[in-house]
Amino acid sequence: MDGPVVRPRRLRRTKALRDLVAETTLEPRQLVLPVFVREGATEPVPIGSMPGVVQHTRDSLRKAAAEAAQLGIGGIMLFGVPETKDATGSAGCDPQGVLNVAIADVAAEVGDALPVMADLCLDEFTDHGHCGVLAEDGSVDNDATLAVYRRMAVAQAEAGADVLGPSGMMDGQVAAIRDALDTAGHTDVAVLAYSAKYASAFYGPFREAVDSSLQGDRRTYQQDSRNRLEGVREALLDVEEGADMVMVKPALAYLDVLREVRDAVRVPVAAYNISGEYSMVEAAAANGWIDREAAILETLTSIRRAGADIVLTYWAAEAATLLDR
Ligand code: PBG
Repeated sequence: MDGPVVRPRRLRRTKALRDLVAETTLEPRQLVLPVFVREGATEPVPIGSMPGVVQHTRDSLRKAAAEAAQLGIGGIMLFGVPETKDATGSAGCDPQGVLNVAIADVAAEVGDALPVMADLCLDEFTDHGHCGVLAEDGSVDNDATLAVYRRMAVAQAEAGADVLGPSGMMDGQVAAIRDALDTAGHTDVAVLAYSAKYASAFYGPFREAVDSSLQGDRRTYQQDSRNRLEGVREALLDVEEGADMVMVKPALAYLDVLREVRDAVRVPVAAYNISGEYSMVEAAAANGWIDREAAILETLTSIRRAGADIVLTYWAAEAATLLDR
């Protein structure tokens, strides 16, 4: 043989060498914890399909938020589970609605120590379970929904949210929300757009988490899993409309989209490691089939490596503890 043998293993010999050349970081500040708060709950309610995750009471939510701030994680994303739902999801816009009350509670608890984010969508609040209001023919009415999102955005900002996360995949939702916020004087409230959001079987456990009443699917507004370029197009559109950050969701089945979005935009990119991705690891670990903690850290690292600056994960608090060891 001519010349030296190339030996990449030299840089893997010790942990210190591996740390020296590691390309990807995983830090608590890069993680966002999604949480559920259930109206009227007096005890935290476990979510069967998401072992370890609960629907919080107002009180237990405040504690979880304080703990998250203490752990130095990057943010908390709130979802509300209302007691009553209706056709237009009116509880979402009501200052006394469960989500808006929870935003105010958490903001009072953590102040500026932890960014408070709110899911801005109607599916938790509508009796039909769709992310928007329905037209007479039963389809989701894009522009009528934007009018509701505008009111919901202002209500969330007024409650004290730092960041709003529109997740309904209506066309023009970022521009509508930005305009509503600015008009109401909330120019400092940021928008984290769920930009490339795919219709996914992996949302299954989330539907239990929010007591969803959805019949059917969301394929007329969420994206088709066969499309990569469309995900990039959606992200670029949201940046043009004023999004401060964009998101790809789900994460694991869409790491190629995530990489491409990261390369295409110049704003922070988030990825949502969703309920089904969480539950798969938990279920396999409960069966003794995989090493749970190693699988969690490998999962989160893979999402960072693919290009996410920020990872939304139900493991945020635990991962922060693991990383601290
Ligand atoms: C919509 C929304 C969903 C999730 C976050 N926001 C559900 C959906 O679009 O069907 C899913 C999150 C998860 O599965 O962990 N408000």
